[in-house]
Amino acid sequence: MHSSPRPRVWVTRPLFDDIVDRLREHFEVECETLDREWSRAEMAQKLRDKAGAILGVADPVDASVLAHAPLLRAVANRGVGYNNLDVAALSQAGVIATNTPGVLDETVADFTWALMLATARRVTEAERFLRSGQWQGMSFHLMLGGDLHGRTLGILGMGRIGQAVARRAVGFRMPVLYHNRTRLDEATERDCAARHVDRETLLREADFLVLALPMNAQTRHAIGAAELAQMKREAYLINIARGGVVDDAALIEALAARRIAGAGLDVFEREPAVPPAMLALDNVVLTPHIASASLATRRQMASMAVDNLIAALGCGPQAGRPAHVINADSLLARRA
Ligand code: DGY
Repeated sequence: MHSSPRPRVWVTRPLFDDIVDRLREHFEVECETLDREWSRAEMAQKLRDKAGAILGVADPVDASVLAHAPLLRAVANRGVGYNNLDVAALSQAGVIATNTPGVLDETVADFTWALMLATARRVTEAERFLRSGQWQGMSFHLMLGGDLHGRTLGILGMGRIGQAVARRAVGFRMPVLYHNRTRLDEATERDCAARHVDRETLLREADFLVLALPMNAQTRHAIGAAELAQMKREAYLINIARGGVVDDAALIEALAARRIAGAGLDVFEREPAVPPAMLALDNVVLTPHIASASLATRRQMASMAVDNLIAALGCGPQAGRPAHVINADSLLARRA
């Protein structure tokens, strides 16, 4: 007697072996061993015989990909952001999409503070200076930077990550202003010691402007030339959200002209490409999209994505009830 073949699942990038093994209990698993970017055409080719996939947050799935993936029933982003997905197209095709909210908030918030400190206190520039043999001895005027303590922290986008960033400000005695589409309830504002202001006030008053908003059509280039022009000359811009939220060309101009003091960026418009003009600037700290990259958190994200996919494909203890569905409406048009 032939048992029916097990559903095929694709893991687009290397992932912790022991966590991928949990997929193998239910599915035929194809797991990539090299980290690389995937074009839409390649995604379509790879997904043509797959029921599900674990995706990196830059792996695109839209209608053009779905048209070649007739068996696809679920995709699980191993990250909280999902601007790589055309959610409407997935819903229309009846493909469940999931993400990993919650588990990375505190780790990303820690890293945001690392970027703030590194940017204001010129940590990476100072290390480059020392390693290149330029240090001739202790100099009183060497690498003079900005302070954090007592300065105003401004947060644009006050979801879970923005709130976790805000809660850390108390030790630095930094007043916190925020702007968000929806104002937080009083108890949460109190917990974050944060005051809601309009966007213009935030831009004008923040000494550190942290971007923690999701990337979508409404937030694309939320920070461009006009917004940078409203910021203080001594202010720093910190982006741990998504590259597209900032107009990179406008930011390069503002940094080069010292229109703002500096920037700390973990994300870029065309990752992994970083504009050469950005690389040439000293007043910007650049990191390769690692804000959530602590070992424990990345393991939790991987594990959550795997649980989501197993459940979305109708297996495991949560069969049919994946915990973190982005497009609940996909269930209406669900593929058999
Ligand atoms: C996310 O989760 O969206 C991060 O940007 C990648 O880990």
